[in-house]
Amino acid sequence: MRSTTLVALGLCSCALAGVTVQEPGLKVPAQYQSNRAAAEKIFTTSYNAYKEFAFGHDELLPISKTSEDDLGGWGASIVDAMTTMLVMGLDDLFNEALNFSSHIDFSVIPAGGTISVFETTIRFVGGLLSAFELSGQQHPILVAKAKQVADKMAFAWIGDNVLPYGHIDFSDNSPDIAVTNIAEAGTLSLEWFKLSKFTGNATYGDLTMKSVEFIANLPAPLPGLAARFIDPGTGQFDGAYVGWGGGSDSYFEYLLKYARLTNTNNNIFIDTWKTAIDSSIHTLLKTSTVGNHAYLADQDDQGLIRHVGSHLACFYAGNWLLGGKLLNNQTIINIALQLNDGCWNTYAGTTTGIGPEGFAFISSDGNFTGDTITADEIAFYNTHGFYITSSDYIQRPEGKHLGRLLESNFYAWRVTGDTKYLDRAASAIASFNKFLPPPDHVGFASLNDVNNATAGFIDVMESFWYENFERKDITYSQFENRFAEVLKYLYLTFDDPSHISLDNYVFNTECHPFKAPPALNSYAGSGKLIPQKPFNAHKTGSPLPAISPR
Ligand SMILES: *[C@@H]1O[C@H](CO)[C@@H](O)[C@H](O)[C@H]1NC(C)=O
Ligand SMILES: *[C@@H]1O[C@H](CO)[C@@H](O)[C@H](O)[C@H]1NC(C)=O
Ligand SMILES: *[C@@H]1O[C@H](CO)[C@@H](O)[C@H](O)[C@H]1NC(C)=O
Ligand SMILES: *[C@@H]1O[C@H](CO)[C@@H](O)[C@H](O)[C@H]1NC(C)=O
Ligand SMILES: *[C@@H]1O[C@H](CO)[C@@H](O)[C@H](O)[C@H]1NC(C)=O
Repeated sequence: MRSTTLVALGLCSCALAGVTVQEPGLKVPAQYQSNRAAAEKIFTTSYNAYKEFAFGHDELLPISKTSEDDLGGWGASIVDAMTTMLVMGLDDLFNEALNFSSHIDFSVIPAGGTISVFETTIRFVGGLLSAFELSGQQHPILVAKAKQVADKMAFAWIGDNVLPYGHIDFSDNSPDIAVTNIAEAGTLSLEWFKLSKFTGNATYGDLTMKSVEFIANLPAPLPGLAARFIDPGTGQFDGAYVGWGGGSDSYFEYLLKYARLTNTNNNIFIDTWKTAIDSSIHTLLKTSTVGNHAYLADQDDQGLIRHVGSHLACFYAGNWLLGGKLLNNQTIINIALQLNDGCWNTYAGTTTGIGPEGFAFISSDGNFTGDTITADEIAFYNTHGFYITSSDYIQRPEGKHLGRLLESNFYAWRVTGDTKYLDRAASAIASFNKFLPPPDHVGFASLNDVNNATAGFIDVMESFWYENFERKDITYSQFENRFAEVLKYLYLTFDDPSHISLDNYVFNTECHPFKAPPALNSYAGSGKLIPQKPFNAHKTGSPLPAISPR
């Protein structure tokens, strides 16, 4: 830290470049470049279908050609798509979306009900502020709109609570008093930090930063690995479930990204992230007996290892790559690349080339998932090295949530320069174009069954979906992510690597890029891991909440 402080003070004239994430001088070879236009085409086709049948609503239903409002009814698809339009240089679409966004009245929820502080932060606050930056800070209305919605959400912190409640009723600013999870409480810090920067009001950044700091300081089931559920009223974890999947995922993601975006000298963020990685390597990192695929298991409330994976968790490879580079740790980079390959295998192993939401493995040190393994699953596993978990997966909307794997694949390309990652992204584009446009309908839809292209479509382009690992309580967001996330990562994979470089930008969890300051020479934190503190699992006994992970 010392030399970087000197640099910040301008006291060091030596040429210190700062740590880099991307392979220097990287170029996309000519034979891959047409894929960039192909990703843009999927975006414009989807967005034009949305414009024709659902403009102003949260999402398009591509089979019935109608719309749905499940994110407040403020036109989530438009706001979320603005940064994609800016990255792709689609100025006419952006100007139309800018005009629409300028007129949103966040003081009421037109669709009724309560809104999720997390979902609204990553899509609206993140989308508006990133669009403000990417459009050259010419449209202060975008900051004003982000402020309007954040001022309502700030009521989620009540009394002396350091942690926000998960949901707010905008009609009376009352929070929904319920247990939340660390992803909901800990994935606000990048967006609200930027809001403080652009408004000059430090409260936004302080509220969200202190929530993360508080969670990081609680005694955890494993060092650095906070439990998934948490009660903002008592400030205690609810249970001891630990993992990188939905409900926990982006809390870990933002520990690292907050340190990079702010260059803070508060070591808690890097120290906790590094400790989480170390604990994960020691306790959660497993290898399948068939195919030797690396994956990160979960540890459940009883302390049992569950050999499960999920599409959502596949962001971990990209996050570990970013951290491995920032911390200059080749061990973390190597494991991240193995984890990325393990996730990719779940895509390569289906007949559509599109991976399932949830899957599981058998490792030499166990096969427990919480469910019994069927003969069909064992047979599938013996061929593919993973199996698809829930018995009702045929009824589940598999296949539309490609975002997080393609995100990790994007990091792998930019960090290593290995063109096999370009091949994978190109094959995902081909699968999209082959399997996802529903015949006689509009846009792109979700498949019922990634292993059976004739089994039909789900009528959503974006929606929440309730999936289960133990309870029906994980919410999956779907196609709308393609506006903000999947198609932007695919496009950027084939774009000039210096355009939106990982050395200049930090992406929020919805793929809205934030401009980052020059990197420090090292993100080593204190250099020490956080020791295990005595941990007593605590159960509130209150009904478990619907959790809305990434
Ligand atoms: C701008 O938005 C307003 C309200 O949404 C709409 O009435 C108007 O037609 C829009 N103008 C343009 C040029 O798109
Ligand atoms: C800063 O924002 C918070 C949260 O909305 C608000 O309560 C406070 O009044 C604001 N402070 C100033 C000086 O505007
Ligand atoms: C890299 O990280 C791993 C995992 O935490 C750790 O064991 C190793 O000591 C680190 N290497 C260096 C050079 O810091
Ligand atoms: C799962 O583990 C149990 C306990 O070790 C073992 O008896 C069983 O054969 C394993 N099943 C498979 C399919 O590997
Ligand atoms: C695929 O889905 C179709 C339509 O539901 C069904 O008739 C067919 O049996 C399925 N194929 C397989 C291999 O499951």
